[in-house]
Amino acid sequence: MSTDTSAQTLTFLRRGQAVTLDHVAPDRTLLEVLREDLHCTGTKEGCGEGDCGACTVVLGEAVGGQLEYKAINSCIRLAHSVQGLAVWTAEDLAAPGGELHPVQEAMVQCHGSQCGFCTPGFVMSLFGMYQNTKGGKGIDRTQAQVELSGNLCRCTGYRPILDAARQMGSLPLPAGCGVNEAATVAALKKLQPATGEHYLSPTTLPALLQARAAHPKAQVVAGCTDVGLWVTKMHKRFAQVLDVTTAQELRRVETYPHHIAIGAAVTLTDAYAALVSERPQLKAFAQRFAGLPVRNSGTLGGNVANGSPIGDSMPLLIALGANVVLMRWDAKRKQIAHREIRLEDLYTGYRQNVMKPDELLCWIKVPRPVKGETATVYKISKRFDDDISAVCLAIRMTVEDGTVKAVSIGAGGVAATPVRARQTEAALLGQPWTADTVMAATAALRAEFQPISDMRASAGYRHTVLGNLLQRFWLESQGLQRINLESLTASDLEAVA
Ligand code: FES
Ligand code: FES
Repeated sequence: MSTDTSAQTLTFLRRGQAVTLDHVAPDRTLLEVLREDLHCTGTKEGCGEGDCGACTVVLGEAVGGQLEYKAINSCIRLAHSVQGLAVWTAEDLAAPGGELHPVQEAMVQCHGSQCGFCTPGFVMSLFGMYQNTKGGKGIDRTQAQVELSGNLCRCTGYRPILDAARQMGSLPLPAGCGVNEAATVAALKKLQPATGEHYLSPTTLPALLQARAAHPKAQVVAGCTDVGLWVTKMHKRFAQVLDVTTAQELRRVETYPHHIAIGAAVTLTDAYAALVSERPQLKAFAQRFAGLPVRNSGTLGGNVANGSPIGDSMPLLIALGANVVLMRWDAKRKQIAHREIRLEDLYTGYRQNVMKPDELLCWIKVPRPVKGETATVYKISKRFDDDISAVCLAIRMTVEDGTVKAVSIGAGGVAATPVRARQTEAALLGQPWTADTVMAATAALRAEFQPISDMRASAGYRHTVLGNLLQRFWLESQGLQRINLESLTASDLEAVA
C-alpha cells in the first residue's frame, strides 16, 4: 500500500533495538507493517476492526523515567503512531533459547489454547497485565475478566485463560525473558523524533493548531479506533494525517473546584479513570466501553469529536453537563483562539458538527458532582463486554424534599446524533418524584425520539427499552435491588460455571 510520494520514515523500539522503516505511508496500520514489512506473522488479523483482539500488541512509553505499558489493537492503529515507542509482539516474549515467558507457560499449563488463532492476542493482553502488575502479582478473576475483555476466543472457553491470568505470576521468569526497563527507557530516549509532512505529530498545542490551519485536508486522528476502520473496512486512503495525541498539553486531566478538564489526547482508559474517581458508580459502565485494547488507544476527545450516535461517552457527558472547548490558531494575533459550547450543541446531524475547518476539539470540561446528585448510565447491548450500545441512557438528577430540583438526560442510539432529552427533562423538572411523574416522563421520553432499525436493534425495541430504562431508574431510586448484569459478581459467575 505504500507510495514514495506520501510516505515517511518510522522508527520504534523492538527487542531493545531500534527498528527503522523507510517509506511507510501515513495510512498504513501497525499490523500491516508488522506482518508485511517485518514478516512477523505471529500477530494475527481476525476482524480488522478492534473487536476480537487477535492483533493485540503491547506498547511501551517512557513517562517520567518509567515505562508505561498498554495493550492495543494493531489492526486499527496507524503505524506512525508508534514512532518513538517500544513495541512487543507475541514473538518477542520467549527467551533466545526458546524458554517460554510466564504468560506463555501459564497458557500451556492451563490449556488456554486450542486452534491458537486468538492465542497471540491473549498472550499479549496477559503480558500487558503482567508488566503492569510487576510480574502478574495479585491478579484475581475480576481483574483478568476486565483486562481480557477485548479478546475473543471461539474454541477454548474462557475459564482456562482466566486461570492462566491468575497463575502466570507464580511461574519463574527464565533468564533472557522480561523487559530491562532502565535499558528500554534509555534506548527510547535515543530514538529520533518524527519528521516528515505526511504523518504530522506536533508535540505542542500551538504547533498542533498551526498544523491544522496549514493542512485543513489532513485527516485528523487521535486513538484511531474509528478512523482505523475507515482504512481497514472502507478502504479509505489518507495522503496526510494529523495526530493530536502527541500534543503534550492535551494529554492531561486537570482538576478545578467545579469541573475537571480532560484533554483531547487522554485515552479512554485514563479519561474514564478520572470520571470514575469523581463518580465511582460509573465504574461498571466504564469497563463496558469496548475492550481494554480499544480503551487504551481511543481517546475521549476522539469519541466526542467523532459524534457517532451510538458512541458511549456522549449520553453520559451530556447528562453530566459537559462543555467542549474548540480551539484554532489565530494567525493575526499569533495566539490560540477558543470558544466553549455545550456538548449537545456540538452536533448538527449524523457525524456533522459545528467545528470550522481550522478548529479542533481540545478539551472536555465535566462538572464535578454536587451534593444530592444521582448520576446513572445504562447501556443496552447484545454482548455485555466489548460491544456497542443499541440504546444508552444517562440521567443526572437531584431530588430535594420529594421534588425534582435538577435533571439532565442524555441518550444514544435513538437519533442521528447523541441527544439531550429536553422534553423529558421538562416533564420531570419541578414535579414530585413519584410513579405518576415517572409514567408521564416515560411517555415523553418515548415520544421525544424516533429511533431507526438497524443490525443492533429494531426501532420498536429501542422505543420500548428507552422508556423502560427511565422506569428502571425510578425503581432503583426506590431501593429496589438491581436486577442487572452489573450486579453479578465474579464469584456469582464462578458458582454457576
Ligand atoms: Fe480483531 Fe484487530 S484483528 S481486533
Ligand atoms: Fe481457537 Fe481461541 S483457541 S479461537
